[in-house]
Amino acid sequence: MKRDLLTIRDLTASEIRQLIDRAQRMKQEWSEGSLRPSLSRRILGLIFAKPSTRTRVSFEAAMYRLGGNCIFLTEKDSQISRSEPLADTARVLARYVDTIAVRTFAHRDVEELARFASIPVINGLTDDFHPCQVLSDLLTIQEKRGSLEALHVAWIGDGNNVAHSWINASARLGFTLSLACPPGHEPSNAVVEWAGKEGTGAVHITRDPREAVSSADVLYTDVWASMGQEAEAEERRKTFRDYQINDSLLAAAPSHALVLHCLPAHRGEEITEEVMEGPRSVVFDQAENRLYFQMALLDWVINRQD
Ligand code: CP
Ligand code: NVA
Repeated sequence: MKRDLLTIRDLTASEIRQLIDRAQRMKQEWSEGSLRPSLSRRILGLIFAKPSTRTRVSFEAAMYRLGGNCIFLTEKDSQISRSEPLADTARVLARYVDTIAVRTFAHRDVEELARFASIPVINGLTDDFHPCQVLSDLLTIQEKRGSLEALHVAWIGDGNNVAHSWINASARLGFTLSLACPPGHEPSNAVVEWAGKEGTGAVHITRDPREAVSSADVLYTDVWASMGQEAEAEERRKTFRDYQINDSLLAAAPSHALVLHCLPAHRGEEITEEVMEGPRSVVFDQAENRLYFQMALLDWVINRQD
């Protein structure tokens, strides 16, 4: 049976752990020159309606390093822009390629593609979720910290797509997640309620960034205005002023705490230059790990036997 990755809810806790371990192993094998080209003659199709540096290049590089190929389309270069139904697009692409990675606005669009494609569909970011980002961030945390046991992550800023994926991950893996968000910018109730009902983690929402970081192992932030919210950027700069990761907030966290950011970063807004370039920041190792996580994910979805 094909497996899609539309949100982290599509995976069990044990599958998440296996994917992270597989990514760590593939990273090691790649560095030793012993990684097998397990995706030879396989093709990844990418359909992106929003800009991307990391997600696109890490997916494409992962595919090439595993011996496969990629076909990249923007929505506007395809007939989707001329109203060809997603259901038709999905059924046609499934006859040409082995898996599809999609970056778009409405989450229901990736659900629609997945419903009609007979091949795996991977969410490369929607307005609501960014699962591949958070799964590869868990690889970074496991690598830097040694394990994911008794983890406490503090999210500072907007309750956005990346925050939603953190909530899903906390629910699945059972770690503590504190989110400090300004009023009106909390994560969606539906996502939080799902975590409360189905999850094994603890999700706390507060207005106070200092409270969120006080016992955190990881401080995490993202842009104040996500793609598609450019018109609100000025207003958001005022609303989110007190939700910046800076030296003063870092001083309120335990001395071992790491700083992560999914990037791209807006220095001087959600994070200062000092913290971004400082010794606690692992943002570029974090970006690098996107590559190894995509390798593990592509290998898993394409080479599954059942
Ligand atoms: N973090 C991330 O998804 O970056 P891109 O938008 O560059 O893909
Ligand atoms: N929340 C951001 C993440 C970018 C990787 C956005 O959606 O623009």
